[in-house]
Amino acid sequence: MNEIRICFVCLGNICRSPTAEAVFLDLIEREGVADRFVVDSAGTVAHHAGERAHRDTRAAAREHGIEVRSIARQFVKSDFDRFDYVVAMDGENRKNLERLAGDDRVTVHLFRDFDASSPPASDVPDPYYSGGFGHVYDICVAASRGLLEELKSKHGV
Ligand code: 4NP
Repeated sequence: MNEIRICFVCLGNICRSPTAEAVFLDLIEREGVADRFVVDSAGTVAHHAGERAHRDTRAAAREHGIEVRSIARQFVKSDFDRFDYVVAMDGENRKNLERLAGDDRVTVHLFRDFDASSPPASDVPDPYYSGGFGHVYDICVAASRGLLEELKSKHGV
């Protein structure tokens, strides 16, 4: 069966989307369905391209036994063809992605919309200036669970 290809996207690809990627990878590995997925992350800007995730991002995940291994890269237009699900961390970056798509019809999901307990159109808060890396981690766990449940029912994972 074809793999389901998912790309999580934030602004810099060093805080939120690397956390989402690592948390979702951990979840599908623990559920024994990792072979059904390709998982990646990217940022809408290139400022941090080539860098490892923020040290506080890595520390927050490590507290839960999870390694964040991603290297930052910028999301490019051709990524829309490479991924089945482009999942933005907030409304601003969803807008950025839709702008990048131009006239092409694309669907950009909002990550927290997969978490039934969060209000519609909630953002994953940006911890870069204000902190809250542990909170971002917890949000990513709840949204990842919801995303996987949706994919299970939609794609028979
Ligand atoms: P992220 O966080 O989008 O979750 O990776 C940020 C990373 C870098 C910056 C802002 C947010 N920055 O301004 O450089």
